[in-house]
Amino acid sequence: MGRKYPTYDTSLECIVAEAAAATGARAAYEVYLDDALEWLDRAASDSIHAVVTDPPYGVLEYTPKQLEKMKNGRGGVWRIPPSFDGCARRPLPRFTVLTEAHKEDIRRLFARLAERLMRVLVPGAHVFIATNPLVSYLVYEPFIAAGFEKRGEIIRMVMTLRGGDRPKNAHDEFADVSVMPRSCWEPWGLFRKPCEGRVQDNLRTWRTGGLRRISADEPFKDVIRSSPARGHERQIAPHPSLKPQHFLRQVVRAALPLGEGVVLDPFMGSGATIAAAIACGYQSIGIELNPEYFMMALDCIPKLAAYTPSEANGNGAKR
Ligand SMILES: C[S@@+](CC[C@H](N)C(=O)[O-])C[C@H]1O[C@@H](n2cnc3c(N)ncnc32)[C@H](O)[C@@H]1O
Repeated sequence: MGRKYPTYDTSLECIVAEAAAATGARAAYEVYLDDALEWLDRAASDSIHAVVTDPPYGVLEYTPKQLEKMKNGRGGVWRIPPSFDGCARRPLPRFTVLTEAHKEDIRRLFARLAERLMRVLVPGAHVFIATNPLVSYLVYEPFIAAGFEKRGEIIRMVMTLRGGDRPKNAHDEFADVSVMPRSCWEPWGLFRKPCEGRVQDNLRTWRTGGLRRISADEPFKDVIRSSPARGHERQIAPHPSLKPQHFLRQVVRAALPLGEGVVLDPFMGSGATIAAAIACGYQSIGIELNPEYFMMALDCIPKLAAYTPSEANGNGAKR
């Protein structure tokens, strides 16, 4: 990038910085207060080597009205899961309230995202995109329609407290019934922009096309055990959808097969993907629309990058 770090744009719309994680990895990153689609419209073609992102796939849940309802703890998409053990639960978005019109909005958002990523990504670039079992098809179909190859899914094995409840207001009458299964996994769609020629040709030209192995003996795997972000990590970054470093570092590491290039998170929230990229020693770019979360990311990125997850190393991630 050849710039002096850190440099601060006076409007706070773009901050370019360099952070050194506790691991000793140093990496440059850029963060923008912007709309992801508008930023992508201005980005250069063939300039990004991987995307790792956790988008607002409910579309609704990050609108000012829904965020206000979440803060007030009443109504809307955000619901507090029932507490059976006296512990306070964090609000989760409830996707069963989406209407057909909302679902169409989701499809349209991902169609616009996929179309723009197709131009901005280099051939062979991978996209890892968080979703959930109820709406994943609304995310996957537009990516395939835009020309991406579906390369499988990463299964994040996580207990979210979604589902598993008895029928509302009839708990006693139907004590042995759950309306939906208790969710124990989160799918991350895995897509690739088609390679130019063979994978080996694409790796030579663009440094992309495959996934980074854990070691000579061990490939990256598509099932990852992962607790929700909690404790110290959540204190650092109080974003309602914070993803844990332990998980993100494994995914981000795999996303650049030769450890070279730029990782983009167009919906960065608190910047957890950017922090994971720093911990891996990768360059990255993050976009966030909400000024409150953008400011949170400025503060959190170096702290999350320096954070050492307590979980054992998996998939070759730096702790
Ligand atoms: C699910 S959260 C990501 C949380 C992130 N994974 C973390 O660990 O902090 C999605 C984020 O996308 C942001 N967002 C929503 N629409 C956006 C848009 N059009 N452009 C950029 N960011 C957007 C929301 O404000 C929210 O912070």
